[in-house]
Amino acid sequence: MRSQYLWTASRKEENVSFASFTWYTEKRERKYVPESGQKRGWQEDCSNQSSAIHIQKASFHLTTHIPCVPPEPEAMASATLLKSSFLPKKAEWGATRQAAAPKPVTVSMVVRASAYADELVKTACQDSYKVTTHIDPWMNNHLKVLLIIINYCKVEDSLEKKTVASPGRGILAMDESNATCGKRLASIGLENTEANRQAYRTLLVSAPGLGNYISGAILFEETLYQSTVDGKKIVDILVEQGIVPGIKVDKGLVPLTGSNNESWCQGLDGLASREAAYYQAGARFAKWRTVVSIPNGPSELAVKEAAWGLARYAAISQDNGLVPIVEPEILLDGEHGIERTFEVAQKVWAETFYYMAENNVMFEGILLKPSMVTPGAECKDKATPEQVAEYTLKLLHRRIPPAVPGIMFLSGGQSEVEATQNLNAMNQSPNPWHVSFSYARALQNTCLKTWGGRPENLKAAQDALLLRAKANSLAQLGKYTSDGEAAEAKEGMFVKNYSY
Ligand code: 13P
Repeated sequence: MRSQYLWTASRKEENVSFASFTWYTEKRERKYVPESGQKRGWQEDCSNQSSAIHIQKASFHLTTHIPCVPPEPEAMASATLLKSSFLPKKAEWGATRQAAAPKPVTVSMVVRASAYADELVKTACQDSYKVTTHIDPWMNNHLKVLLIIINYCKVEDSLEKKTVASPGRGILAMDESNATCGKRLASIGLENTEANRQAYRTLLVSAPGLGNYISGAILFEETLYQSTVDGKKIVDILVEQGIVPGIKVDKGLVPLTGSNNESWCQGLDGLASREAAYYQAGARFAKWRTVVSIPNGPSELAVKEAAWGLARYAAISQDNGLVPIVEPEILLDGEHGIERTFEVAQKVWAETFYYMAENNVMFEGILLKPSMVTPGAECKDKATPEQVAEYTLKLLHRRIPPAVPGIMFLSGGQSEVEATQNLNAMNQSPNPWHVSFSYARALQNTCLKTWGGRPENLKAAQDALLLRAKANSLAQLGKYTSDGEAAEAKEGMFVKNYSY
């Protein structure tokens, strides 16, 4: 028994990139008949009904004392859940043993994520919780650990709802600068006034039940300090909805001198003090978006500058208690094929992680916001969701350490349905990270048009937002189908040289 647990722990060293194990459902639990006199256990009931559970956290270490039935001494169970594969052989599932003195015990354990020392990780994903499991003496140690894992999953599930990288949820990006928000409002015939921006953002954050699908909202500075039309702080509404408030901290793009018409992202000056103030105002994560253009090169200089800027921003954000969302957007612009996007993305992410490591950024306390790997918007060959998923996951596996808790994709001009389909395709099998969304256009487009600035359309607009949020929540779980989606949601939103 002891060696079984040690084996589980040692799997960590082999760097297996995700935990996948089989568990018993409640249905099967009910079928257990302890006094049947024949074969005690759940074997028959489990035959074809295993469910794979995927733990998306980095490096959890479970340590507990599990009392064994006499005459065995107390065994020490130590199982590393993440980066380990705990999957007992089927034949062992129902193996039972006679207890000399059947006396149920309750095992209590603390699950702690090793090296998760501070709040950053709590925001990105939960770090430690107590799991209590009722254990009967007849159970063999496999079963004991399985029960502990089941309970662990239940507790984890409820706690994760408070964190950004939580199952079935993603980020609502509503951090358009005032200039960009003005363009959005102009598209529905509204003036770019503070009152109109406030009305629209009130509509978004107060959509009933939004927190079921959305775990974080990125705000523009104005919105962080803004109240709703009813005078409640927007930040407070988000917290009530179970949504973590975040803040865009970059100061936008300007031309990069000496490059091939490329740009760089401003905002490092004074960032520490701004972020300290944002934290006071309720923000718990930050976003910095820089861009890389494929048609313009990209030049070595532009990639280095983008990566260095992101790394400095990430380090400063962590120092100020904000989880940095790292976003080097590879623009959709261009006629290139998917292979070329893949090649550039590999380069960009390699540099970004190199500089983040140089700057001592704690990878467990960041979130990424990549572009999906697609062909350029003007390429004649289109890619299916399966192709996009294949290339994008290949990129992530090659470049992103499993310590990173969440990958929150941007939509980048894809249609609402396309962005959802692509995300769904990426979640068809377990990933080492939480693979989810952080969309602006692909969540807001139909909502904005439905609202049209008219108060009587408010509910319909909120329903449109909830529809997209729910579709993407399903896609995060790999359970979305595009049946019944409106034609409008399938229209692309690509804008050449788009600025945010
Ligand atoms: P889109 O989803 O519209 O590309 O926006 C992404 C973004 O960076 C907003 O934070």
